[in-house]
Formats: sequence, C-alpha cells, structure tokens
Amino acid sequence: MAERLTRGTLENWSGTNFVTDPTWGDNGKGKVVDLMAQRADLIVRINGGANAGHTVINEKGEFKLHLMPSGIFNPNAVCVLSDTVVVNPLILVEEISSLKKAGVEVGHKNLLISRNAHLVMPWHRSRDILREVARGSEKIGTTGQGIGPTYSDRTDRVGLRVGDLLNPNFERLFDREIQWQEKYTRAMSGQDLLANIVIDERFAGMSLEEIKQEALKQAQESFYKRDEVLADLLAAREVIAPLISNVLPVIWEYHDANKRILGEAGQGVLLDLDRGNYPDVTSSHPGIAGFNIATGLSPREVERVIAVTKAYTTRVGEGPLPTELKDNTGNAIREKGHEFGATTGRPRRCGWLDIPAIRYGSRVGGVDSLALTKIDIFDGFPEVMICIGYKVGNREYRMAPTGDLEFMRSATPIYETLSGWERDTTSAKNFKDLPQNARNYVERVQELMGLPIELVSVGAAREASIYL
Ligand code: IMP
Repeated sequence: MAERLTRGTLENWSGTNFVTDPTWGDNGKGKVVDLMAQRADLIVRINGGANAGHTVINEKGEFKLHLMPSGIFNPNAVCVLSDTVVVNPLILVEEISSLKKAGVEVGHKNLLISRNAHLVMPWHRSRDILREVARGSEKIGTTGQGIGPTYSDRTDRVGLRVGDLLNPNFERLFDREIQWQEKYTRAMSGQDLLANIVIDERFAGMSLEEIKQEALKQAQESFYKRDEVLADLLAAREVIAPLISNVLPVIWEYHDANKRILGEAGQGVLLDLDRGNYPDVTSSHPGIAGFNIATGLSPREVERVIAVTKAYTTRVGEGPLPTELKDNTGNAIREKGHEFGATTGRPRRCGWLDIPAIRYGSRVGGVDSLALTKIDIFDGFPEVMICIGYKVGNREYRMAPTGDLEFMRSATPIYETLSGWERDTTSAKNFKDLPQNARNYVERVQELMGLPIELVSVGAAREASIYL
C-alpha cells in the first residue's frame, strides 16, 4: 500500500482516536470499535440513541447494541454515554440485563452515564410517529425511537435529563413534564384523540396509516398512563442511578494521563443535522464536531479519526442515494450482506461504493484514514463498479461539494468498472492473501479517496480483519 500513517496501526493505536461513518450509517463501526476497544482505556459514545444498531460478534456471542458503547466487552475499559447522547432508560436497562446474562460485566466500574444526557420518554416516541404520519409522502423514515423530539426538547431547553433521576423532587419534575407533554402532543397533532396515544409494541409491524387508524380507535381509553410510565422509570432508576456521573472531568483525566480514549459515533456524517441531506437526516452530529462537544476535547487533541465504510454504500430511510441499485445486483448485495436494519429490521437500500459522498463525509467529519468492511460480499461478482464522480447539470464533481438534498438528488453517478474476483476472501489473514482483483479494488478506493486504508474486513468476526 502506498501511503501509511506514522501513528501506529489500528491494531496498535495510542492517544485519542475517534471512529465515525462518512455516509448514512450501518457501515460496520461496531466491529471496528470492538477491535480497537481491546486496547482502549476509555470508550465514549458521542451521539444518537437507540436509533443506532451496532452489531458485535465475539467470543461471548452476537450482540445488537443500540445504546451501549460497543467497547463494553473490554473488561479493563470504562465506557461512557456522553452528554450529547439521548438515553431511553428502558432500552438501556434491557441491554445491561442481556449483556449480564451473556456473562459481560456491566456496573459502575465500567459504565458511566452523563447526568446531562436527555431521557427519551414514551411521548417522544409518540411525537416521532405522529410527525411522520403528518408528513405523509414527505416522511423522513425515522427509526421511530423518539430521537428527533428528544433532541428538539433539548434545544427547546425542556425535558427530563438523566441527572433528574437523582433529584429528591423527581416525582414533581416528572408530573410537570408529563402534563406539559400531553398538552404539547395534543397541540401538535391537532386532534385531541390522537394526542393521548402512546406508540408501543401494540403497533409493531403496522404501516403508519394503520397506526393512525388503530390510534384513533384506541384513543378514548389510552392516555399516557402516568403511574405506569413512572413505575417503569423508577424501576430503571434502580439500575441506572449508580452509573450516573459528571463525565467531562473523567474524560479530561484520562486524556491528561495519556490514556487511550476511543470515541464512537452513531449514524453517519451524511445524516448530520447540519451537514447531511437535510431534512432527511438525524438530529445529532456524528463527525468530529460532535466528538468535540461530547468529550470537551478539541479536534487538535485527537490523534486520528477513522471512517468506516463498506465496500458498497447503503441507506435506510428516505433521502437521496445516488448509486442506489434497484435491480438484481442491489438485491444480491442486500441478501448476501444481510442489509436489514439492526434497529427496525427495514431492508436497506444498496448501491455501488459512492466515492464523492464518502469524500464529502470524510472532509466534514475530519477523517484521517479509512476502514473498508465487507469486501467479501463481492466474492464471486464478475465485476464491481465504483462511483468515482457525479454529473450535475454540465459539471462533474469528484467530491460532493455539499450535502444538500437537491444537489444529491440531481447527481448522476459516473462509474468505473473493475474486474471482480471468484475466490473466497473470508479466510484471508494478510493483504497479500486476497485475490489480485480484490487488492486492486482496495488500492483503487484508497487512491480515489486520497486517504490511507488501515483495515480491510472480510467477515463479521474479530479475526476476519486484515490490518494494513
Ligand atoms: P432518526 O434518527 O430515528 O430520527 O431517523 C432519521 C434518519 O436517520 C432516518 O433516515 C433513519 O433511517 C436514519 N438513521 C438513524 N439512525 C440510523 C442508524 O443507526 N443507521 C442508519 N440510519 C440511521
């Protein structure tokens, strides 16, 4: 490989590193964080909430983590949910309990939850769904986890935060909140009946229209049930309370002692609220700017930002995906790559690798190097294409100059075709074990990106990783 970083390989890293995703999420950050976390002293999840789904496969089993940092499997490291994460306490408690069942230690010694993080409550999920119903054909295709409404409450400076759980007057705070939320939901929906619906598992698998009908039917007897919501929250508090912390001084202490800190983003830069394809975005900041706000560390204090991208590009939810393949090749990638959402189970839209999008996401995200995952999905493909540029109007772009919706929507991909490889790559241990055409692919991606590729992944397991 032509270019190398001098800071040490991903296998042997030090300082403060940050793992993000340059496009629309689901590129395999969970695996890369799990690998790097073996060396970490502190792992910080910086953004998002249970909208994320990080799949980790290791000797303890297969885990789909939503809130828990993927570094939880290193018994010697401390994991942090930072101020800018939104925490659904019920989901967190469920995750802690299933990890414990699998023999993973989780407690105050290895998990800290920021007291400043906002709590995701049932009304946030209801408002998320109601908003999507109201948008009709312009829906965003959110994960329905209440992420947007929780962040908008945060921006509006209302809502319950994790630290409120420790307040001796918590019940009073809760009552004030639930009363306000009832009024707010009612005003938002414009229909008193819909206002009182809590969207929960009764609605699983239904379309938005069916939910609306069902909600209208059940509205008369269904309210946000104060006693039930409070009881659930108090039960979750039992588990969470010992983990609540002021995390900033902890992060600084680790940093100042030259310990190894690993930042972990949720989602991807093209879903960034400000830099993604607004409004088809999430409500947080998955790039280096989000890392800075979450950790109190300046980008100058970060040794390296690694962007994880698959060998092809996917998106779940609405919004532009210039290289989308709505044909048998797209279906083959989806089936072989198991491209179904870890949180919602929705089929992901699949397309060829989109270099202009990844270059844009890497620029905005502050990226230094890449990890290329799932190249094994192309094993047996006679040829493989890469989108090397966009044509928009009369102009050609090698990097998207903006994440704007209209620009991305009007981009026509310019493709380059490379020969595929017949041979299986999944048992390759070194770069030279890969078939020549697979190596050509990796090298061509590196050249087009102008960034070093430090890791190639050929399967889900930790061992299926080639360090370059
Ligand atoms: P929200 O984050 O649930 O509000 O969803 C907003 C957009 O971000 C939708 O297009 C979701 O499909 C997408 N999204 C949210 N979280 C993830 C993720 O972890 N992976 C991929 N897409 C995501």
